[in-house]
Amino acid sequence: MEINPLNQSLMDFLRRSPGCFHAVENLGNQLEAHGFQRLRETETWTLEPGGNYFVTRNGSSIIAFRLPEGEPCRLRLTAAHSDSPTFKLKPGPALTDGGLTRLNVEQYGGAIRQSWLDRPLSIAGRVLVEEAGTLRQVLVAPDRDLLLIPSLAIHFTAPEQEAPSVQNQLLPVLTAEGNPAALDDLLRLCGFDPETVVGMDLYLTCREAPRIWGLKEEFLSAPRLDDLACCYGALKGFLEAEAKQDALLYCVFDNEEVGSASRQGAASTFLRDTLDRLFAHWNAAPEQRHAILARSVLVSADNAHAFHPGYPSVADPVNRPHINGGIVLKHQAAQKYTTDAVTAAPCRMLCKRHDIPLQEYTNHSDQRGGSTLGNLSNAQVSLRAMDIGLPQLAMHSAYETMGTADLVSLVRFVWMFYIDQLPEVQE
Ligand code: CO
Repeated sequence: MEINPLNQSLMDFLRRSPGCFHAVENLGNQLEAHGFQRLRETETWTLEPGGNYFVTRNGSSIIAFRLPEGEPCRLRLTAAHSDSPTFKLKPGPALTDGGLTRLNVEQYGGAIRQSWLDRPLSIAGRVLVEEAGTLRQVLVAPDRDLLLIPSLAIHFTAPEQEAPSVQNQLLPVLTAEGNPAALDDLLRLCGFDPETVVGMDLYLTCREAPRIWGLKEEFLSAPRLDDLACCYGALKGFLEAEAKQDALLYCVFDNEEVGSASRQGAASTFLRDTLDRLFAHWNAAPEQRHAILARSVLVSADNAHAFHPGYPSVADPVNRPHINGGIVLKHQAAQKYTTDAVTAAPCRMLCKRHDIPLQEYTNHSDQRGGSTLGNLSNAQVSLRAMDIGLPQLAMHSAYETMGTADLVSLVRFVWMFYIDQLPEVQE
């Protein structure tokens, strides 16, 4: 199989994005390199017809948009999420015991805990530094293997081995010295005077290198594929597109893994507030605004479960996507996935028209299944929506697996979604 160069650039993006803050910074840099202008929520915006812009919130969510020359007929949006399951450092001294010093952490999102054992780890996130009474935010990601969470030897059988306790068993080891001030030493190693660090959001990050593997190089494994693979694929499709009659928006939200209800999550006002400013730029009266929104469409892109032959009983007997079988359209009767007939139809038509392989996913009817972005962002801005994703294995493992043929399908789908005819239905 010929490896699409897109996979190499995805792996590079993953390496440079050890956490949500770095991911959003890298996405912003790519947008700027393509002529997009950075806006700040704290400033007044002056937008030009036909302009390309982006804005971030909290440094961990981002919305980019391409404006048409006139008032848009509708909005075409994609959304993905920047965060992945991990562990967050707690404030206070490090824990020393038995000659080892461990950092005190708590869980962020629903990680497969065992998958974090015995792997090279580091920290990634942001610190706030005080400088003469002012504050500066600095992103931190030392390029070093600094931490590891050792598993228990097979010769001991502890009852918690299957689901280790975070507080007891999953604290990462930083040093073989009893050093309660080890966190300060870690900050010094990152180039800070610990006295000046007055705030921090630091998370563990898995340092396992992205790899392509398999007899025909069919697989790509890496940390944080959910959902940085969709963030990246959707960006590539967005950058290919041009706004004609419609406004094109590309959204990446933080905090999907913890319910999206933060100031910058999919359930926050970030999208609604940004749209308010766009509607003001178009001088759109409430009447026009409602009509534009009613014509608009959202693609929520978050990875989907591929079929695992070791666990056939958790998969639906029919709608079980395969690695390298193409992008996945997700359905759920309870509407955690937003797809319905009205949005599935244009999705299928687009894929057929452009030869994009498409698979369908439903949960096994006795499984509860997961949640994602589309239905949550609908609480603030209600839009026709579909949920799609890339098929992957080991979702929420520290090291996840996808197919090397699927990313190109996502990029092509997103691109066509932004520029091609989207037939409408009179409901
Ligand atoms: Co996800």
